[in-house]
Amino acid sequence: MLAAFRTIRRDPAAFLEQMWRDYGDVVQFPIPRPPVYLLSSPAQVRSVLTDSVSTQSKRTLQYDNLAILTGDGLLTADDPPWRGHRRAMQPAFHHGQLDAVCASAAHAAESYLQAWDLLADGSTVDVDKAMMEISLQVVATSLFGSDWRQDAGGLTRATITALDEVVVRARNPLASPLWLPTIRNRRLTRAKAQLDRAVDALIDGYVSGSSSVAESQASAIPPFLELVIAGLRNKDGSLDRSAVRDELVTFLVAGHETVASALSWTWYLLAEHPEVAADVRAEVDELTPGSWDMATVAALPLTSAVVDETLRLYPPAWVLTRTTTVERELGGSSVPTGSLLIMSPWILGRHPEAWDDPQRFDPSRFLTGNSRNRLGYLPFGAGPRVCIGREFALAEAAIVVALMSARFELSRPPGSSPLTPLSSVTLRPPDGLPMVVRRR
Ligand code: HEM
Repeated sequence: MLAAFRTIRRDPAAFLEQMWRDYGDVVQFPIPRPPVYLLSSPAQVRSVLTDSVSTQSKRTLQYDNLAILTGDGLLTADDPPWRGHRRAMQPAFHHGQLDAVCASAAHAAESYLQAWDLLADGSTVDVDKAMMEISLQVVATSLFGSDWRQDAGGLTRATITALDEVVVRARNPLASPLWLPTIRNRRLTRAKAQLDRAVDALIDGYVSGSSSVAESQASAIPPFLELVIAGLRNKDGSLDRSAVRDELVTFLVAGHETVASALSWTWYLLAEHPEVAADVRAEVDELTPGSWDMATVAALPLTSAVVDETLRLYPPAWVLTRTTTVERELGGSSVPTGSLLIMSPWILGRHPEAWDDPQRFDPSRFLTGNSRNRLGYLPFGAGPRVCIGREFALAEAAIVVALMSARFELSRPPGSSPLTPLSSVTLRPPDGLPMVVRRR
């Protein structure tokens, strides 16, 4: 591990993949405390993830650092309070809410395309930056309504800075305690304060808007936010501000960069496979113009399959971790309580037990049968802690890809070489994603 130190820091996903290729489906790292295992058998990983939450905890370096931002939000909390909050948040992610997500995604993509329309044909744009802005707009509009744009730039920067700092801490078991005023700690504290301020202002707006007088303001509150807040009321009807704050920051953090990463890699793979991009355009050209809702998504099987296949090969959440809270048996060895389990959707998407010819980009895998149920398809995790925003993300991605494919063709600049992703909080293109855009 000492010899691999540089790779571990520079490209941890590649390091994990190499360990799996060299040593197989259960690897114990030579670290005395806690015992650390990399699990890669698709059946075993599913069985860990679908096991009861009482057998495992999210108290790992990865989630503890994220919790600096998200507190007791769904992504990082253990049970309690996780189970009660999950139940309370479910209505906000109900199927009936997804038409509004589609409309937000179409609106966000449209406003971006208006800017592209002004460019000379054949201009180069950073598609990764565009996807970051579109996905922020979709999740922020769902939470904040249409007013959030006043502080859009600040909010994006604060989220990204905070997440970057969290990654640096997660990779360094000896990171200084947060109260030490180092440059990095101060940067993280400032970004967190900015996120907190935005969310506090949102809650204040809700409280004043819903306290009778400002009828017009109350009607501007997005239904998604309404459901989140309704779910987190205390028994006496008062607002649990800190629970609401933690969930809202969680949704902002969990629903922004992940979707942007999925979309950027989708454009990358479509550019590498122009024949598939042409088939997507043909599918999109059959749509009824102007309607962007879940019926539209249902009419886009190939576009959705392209997104699924991208998530198989480039899962934004490329590593999942758990700490065991009971002794358990894994791959013939006994794993003691308090062990760290590392599982990587990046490896599972490449596992020959789960996929034929795993390196090949082939969306048709997802056109027949239900491959989303396959053992090796884990971009959204599995079991009780499966991503609550999965349908939200898939609907958003299908709409953005369809709407943009209807109007533009995207290709990589001539002479571009294949990209190796940067494995940070999510998998990102290493230096943005410059692409040439041409009107159709
Ligand atoms: C392509 C986009 C997305 C990907 C790849 C993704 C991936 C994941 C994964 C792998 C997990 C499980 C983590 C674990 O088991 O340790 C998760 C959990 C979660 N995700 Fe997503 N996610 C995406 C989009 C979203 C969106 C749009 C939202 C909200 C708006 C969201 C909110 C959450 C929350 C709250 C959890 C925690 C659920 C719980 O433990 O109860 N995600 N996500």
